[in-house]
Amino acid sequence: MDRVDATSMRDALVGSIDESWVGRRINVCGWVARRREHGEHLAFLDLRDRSGILQCVVEGTLDVRSEYVVRVTGTVTRRPEGTLNLRLATGAVELTECELEILSVAEPVPFPLDERTEVDESTRLRYRFLDLRREGLQRALRLRASVTATLRAAMSAQEFVEVETPLLWAPTPEGAREFVVPSRLHAGEFYVLPQSPQIAKQLLMVGGFDRYFQVARCLRDEDLRADRQFEFTQLDLEASFVTQEDIMGFVSRAVAEAARVATGEDPGEFATMTWAEALDRFGTDKPDLRFGLELRNLTESFSGTEVKAFQAPAVKALRVPGGAEFSRARLDTLTEQARQLGAKGLAWFRVTSDGLDSPLARFLNETETASLAGVDGAVPGDLILVVADEFALASRVLGALRLTLGAPPVSEGPYKYVWVTEFPMFEGVDEDGHLVAAHHPFTMPHPDDLDLIDTDPLRVRSAAYDLVLNGWELGSGSVRIHRSDIQSRIFSALGITPEEAESRFGFLLGAFRYGAPPHAGFAFGIDRLVAIFAGVDNIREVIAFPKTQSGADLMTGAPKSIPERQMRELRLRPVAKG
Ligand code: AMO
Repeated sequence: MDRVDATSMRDALVGSIDESWVGRRINVCGWVARRREHGEHLAFLDLRDRSGILQCVVEGTLDVRSEYVVRVTGTVTRRPEGTLNLRLATGAVELTECELEILSVAEPVPFPLDERTEVDESTRLRYRFLDLRREGLQRALRLRASVTATLRAAMSAQEFVEVETPLLWAPTPEGAREFVVPSRLHAGEFYVLPQSPQIAKQLLMVGGFDRYFQVARCLRDEDLRADRQFEFTQLDLEASFVTQEDIMGFVSRAVAEAARVATGEDPGEFATMTWAEALDRFGTDKPDLRFGLELRNLTESFSGTEVKAFQAPAVKALRVPGGAEFSRARLDTLTEQARQLGAKGLAWFRVTSDGLDSPLARFLNETETASLAGVDGAVPGDLILVVADEFALASRVLGALRLTLGAPPVSEGPYKYVWVTEFPMFEGVDEDGHLVAAHHPFTMPHPDDLDLIDTDPLRVRSAAYDLVLNGWELGSGSVRIHRSDIQSRIFSALGITPEEAESRFGFLLGAFRYGAPPHAGFAFGIDRLVAIFAGVDNIREVIAFPKTQSGADLMTGAPKSIPERQMRELRLRPVAKG
């Protein structure tokens, strides 16, 4: 066996058989992809393995059907002139004088396994083991393996040590609903599956592992979407004696290395912008930098406006090149979208060579008209959309319209990475009047903003940062609080009482009393990164056995009830479905 793909049963993968093999008698194994009979004496069989397809010529009749598993012994032969198949990598050769050994028979499959046939996703999920034989998932999962291997190597090269942390764990602080696991030995008590290794990795810092990483499975019971599954995988890391910039450097190097391997392109230096700038220019903390349509701020020009609709703390505008042609129906749809997002309305102005065309145009004064007509270099034929409201709301609404009007599918190149920094510490106030952490409660406030915690908390910036790729949040991280005085102030701002802090995170706070190094970290979603590299818009396409949108596993039937005996053992009693 001189080749790595050779085994005791085969000499090579079919995809590697080319003209240099001509004349050799070899063994290959795989599935019957297609068979054609030419009269009674000649049959052709396309043999498929993970590397491709090879044509085998059999004299006599074939007693195999599609998806039978066979071992073929045959002689590699140059195909006769005029029968070359340029679509196949192995299209210049074929196996002749074949002998067939049936290794396993197959029932007719519920859908064709070629890439060209569109198959309904629920059928694909139900028969995932067959779907996995198809080229798309073969390619995606192999890409995923090479991205993960590259990330591991890049982290090791930066002296990070991989440590596995428990899946049976206690509550973690990421803020999603948790999956719980009943304990048999401790009746009535539960483990919690980790939403992330957040606390464990901070304990590793106290434990003196000053650079940790893990390819970590995380579990969150949250609504599923294109970029969310219950179970997903993070490249999780944490380091001690570092700044935010150090962490951003470690992550950028690992992601760039993975990008080079996956796409063949060097992504160059990643852009950086503050959260405030991202909100102002793009109306989101996940700016998609692949296209323009940046938001503009016209608040100043409208500061003394007579137009009621524009009397608001902020007036923001978006120029849509060529948008003057939009039909009324399209403008109505955009207006409806703006309303759904919380705006009171959406004003629109067509730019024409005679000035602005809009029901509101005649109410504007000269400054206002000039500022709208010239916004972002507008020219006749453009459309200007305006939302006046609180700054954040006006920005978010126009940011969403920007995506509706211009965003390509997430996986479409070019790949635009951007670090978003200086996130707010708190994202708002809950029903009980307590502040809500924007990241998690161990995030360090920006050192310049410590004094604002008590006086103006919503203005406190944090040392938290996200990495965004093509408008998807790839990952986030922060510098952590390692001083108990600051931690107590943050807990109290969040309405977490000392008793509650003790019961939820006591083991971490206790550990910090024994010498906690300053530390910071990050985690990014490998599923999301691979989906974008694989050119798909849903992470299900890069996960071997994903759940449906409603959280079901169509293949195993999970979730399902368990036998009564097991329920009793776990001291669980079913309640009537409500
Ligand atoms: P965060 O909660 O932002 O941070 O998660 C980090 C990244 O994990 C991915 N991710 C998901 N991917 C698929 N399905 C999900 N349900 C899902 N939830 C999250 C995203 C996200 O950006 N412990 C912190 C990190 C830290 O501070 O070090 C954390 O988990 O790509």
